[in-house]
Amino acid sequence: MAITLRPARREDAAALHKSCYPDADPEDVDFYLAWSLRQVQKGRMVRLVAEVDGRVVGNAQLTVWGSEGEIGSIVVAESHRRQGLARRLIAALVAEAQARELDALDIGVHRDKPHLRAFYESLGFRPIKKSGPMPTFFEPIITLKLPLQALRKNGREIA
Ligand SMILES: CC(C)(COP(=O)(O)OP(=O)(O)OC[C@H]1O[C@@H](n2cnc3c(N)ncnc32)[C@H](O)[C@@H]1OP(=O)(O)O)[C@@H](O)C(=O)NCCC(=O)NCCS
Repeated sequence: MAITLRPARREDAAALHKSCYPDADPEDVDFYLAWSLRQVQKGRMVRLVAEVDGRVVGNAQLTVWGSEGEIGSIVVAESHRRQGLARRLIAALVAEAQARELDALDIGVHRDKPHLRAFYESLGFRPIKKSGPMPTFFEPIITLKLPLQALRKNGREIA
């Protein structure tokens, strides 16, 4: 099994629709990819796809907000789950955030997915309180933060 991570391209829209977003409207997948690639050109985003044996079967992105970043849109095709692709995509985006000397990275996880929260926590992400109108127990999404300055000091890498 040959696994490659590379920057997303506009031509990936059809493959991403097929593998990762089969229930979405293909035009929406293409529209969002085109928008993301404009953010990439402006230096505000990094969007990666994972290929297995030349087929696009996963994607994830890093959005830069000032001195911090956010990892999102992590989706792996059902046929290719539990093979470490999300782990690789996240590690690559964390490395990219470190190369850009960002201070911290956020990731959002749904309350219904405690196994993913446990995985993110194993990488060093920790839950944070977000101020807003709703009490935190009401929010379906939990935000976790990875302090990158601390990783820099300790020379730790996420693999
Ligand atoms: C979440 C998702 C991206 C994981 O992709 P993946 O390539 O299968 O993940 P990995 O194989 O890299 O798994 C990394 C770790 O996550 C945890 N994990 C992932 N899927 C899991 C599952 N179904 N049950 C339990 N733990 C799971 C495990 O700790 C796993 O490590 P391990 O295999 O060494 O035990 C994929 O299931 C998906 O696309 N789901 C739908 C979209 C989604 O929920 N995105 C995440 C938004 S936060």
